[in-house]
Parts: sequence; structure tokens; C-alpha cells
Amino acid sequence: SEEIYLNYKGLMFPKETHSLESLEFAQEFKFKDEDVMAVVYPKSGTIWMQEILPLLLNGGDLTPIHTIPNWDRVPWLEEKRLALLVDKMASPRAMVTHFPYQLMPPSFHTSKAKVIYVMRNPKDILVSSYYFHKMAAFLEDPRTFDEFVDTFLEGKVLFGKWTDHVKGWKSAELGNRLMYITYEEMVQDLPAALRQMSDFLGRNLSEDTIQKIAEHCSFKTMKTNKMSNFSLVPKMYMDADKSPFLRKGVLGDWKNHFNSEQLAKFTSAIRKDLDSESFSLPWN
Ligand code: PPS
Repeated sequence: SEEIYLNYKGLMFPKETHSLESLEFAQEFKFKDEDVMAVVYPKSGTIWMQEILPLLLNGGDLTPIHTIPNWDRVPWLEEKRLALLVDKMASPRAMVTHFPYQLMPPSFHTSKAKVIYVMRNPKDILVSSYYFHKMAAFLEDPRTFDEFVDTFLEGKVLFGKWTDHVKGWKSAELGNRLMYITYEEMVQDLPAALRQMSDFLGRNLSEDTIQKIAEHCSFKTMKTNKMSNFSLVPKMYMDADKSPFLRKGVLGDWKNHFNSEQLAKFTSAIRKDLDSESFSLPWN
């Protein structure tokens, strides 16, 4: 596992996409007030936000989503690619990160950069992550689903425990720089979610533009966009025959995977971790 993962500040990062240099580059990164960031725990809608943000920011021009691979279009703050791209990024810059709140760099806190925090039902995250670990050669094999439930609950996963991530970002004191949205809201009514995001970003988009963006950011359309469906990545790194990256895109696939014992264990562990928190989550 030391060959596959890098340990940085107590968290695990895949070496294929992260290095000590890239993580330090992120810590030194100078945020600008006009930057826009989607913060997304892994498997909660990151790639989706890489499709959505450029379209919201440019008024629905499809050029970026049709010409630039998602990882260069809206780069990860923590990944190796950012250092190569940063000088060429047009303003306003859009980025994504899986970082927990405590890993955000100093300049983030002093800037006025806006943040959209996307949350997803952790049971669906676990299922999505399980298949992702099976298909991605640069991640450890998840072993059995039963074992992966324990791994996930113990937080021995990329970017740490889900409950820590949510707690950190839910208590972030960023005022009106921060908006929360759920993957569930986005699946249930994407145009409504896009309207909320565009209002937050101060974009005044017409209903036609919102509808157009929703169409191009649908699961179905993204699955056929080679700039977003990871088909540009060689099969030896990501094997879509084992499981496609854009796998199902639905709510509640956990019901097809959890047995009653796993469900009970999962529910009580999450409840315990979130016990003293004042916020409620929409899935319980
Ligand atoms: S990663 O590896 O952390 O960046 O993965 P991430 O992009 O966060 O999450 C992948 C899951 O998001 C689903 N997805 C979508 N669902 C609905 N609509 C759209 N347009 C969409 N785009 C991506 C993707 O299918 C993964 O979820 P599962 O449940 O595995 O299908």
C-alpha cells in the first residue's frame, strides 16, 4: 500500500495523481477572489461539477467541455496537473478539491473565493467507491464488499473519513462564500440545482441556458462525452469493462448492495460520529 498511496498530514493520496510536490503546491496556492471551487468528497459528484462549472461561468458555451479533458478543464487543487496548468487558466478559474477543510491553504481563507460543497448519501458513496477501486489500477483492491464497509467506516480511505469531511466543511465559517448542495438534489432536479448555483455565483442565466446546461450535464450526455467519461485514459489504468467511471448515476444503489447487518453497522457508526453535530443530513 505504500507503493500505491502517499501519506500526507495523516491522509492517504494515490501516488498516480498526487505527489508531495503537488500537495505542497496546493498549500502554497494563491487563491484569487474570483476563483470558484467545488469541494467534493470522493465519489460524490466531482466530475459532474467539472462539467457544470465552466458552463455556468461562461453562459453555456460548450467549447471547454467538448475540447478539454475534465482533469485539465477544472483541475484538482491537490493533483499534479495543477502546476502545469495554473499559468494558462482563464479567469474566473474553476477548480475542484477533495480536501477536508483543515487542508485548505492559508490563501483560501483570506480570499473571497466562492465554494460549492457537494454532499452525497454516504451509503451510495461507499458503493461507488467500491466499484472505482475495482476498476482503477492505481488504487488498492477493495477486497470484499463486507471488508470495504469496515475500511470506509474506519476512514482508511482516500481523503479520510466521510464524517470528518462533512463535519469540517459544515462548520466552516465562510459566510456567503459557501453554498451547500446535495448530489440527491442534483439528480432529482438538475435545472433547479443549476439555478441555485448560478444565483450563488452571481450569474444571471436565462431559462433556456439553464435547460441547455442541464441537458449537457445529464448522466446520459456525459457518458458519451469522451472529454468527461475517462475513455481517454488507457485501459491499464482504468478498466471500464470492470466498471465504467460514469457507472449508474442514481440514488439508492446501496439498497442493491447492503445486507441488513451491514446497514445496521453503517447507520450506527455514522450516527455515533455525527452525534454531537447540530446539523441534520437529508438521508436519515
Ligand atoms: S471521483 O473519482 O471522486 O472524482 O468521483 P466523482 O466524480 O466524485 O463521483 C463519481 C460518481 O458520480 C456519478 N456522476 C453522475 N451522476 C449523475 N449525473 C451525472 N451527470 C454524473 N456524473 C458523474 C458517477 O456515475 C459516480 O457515481 P456512481 O454511483 O458510481 O454511478
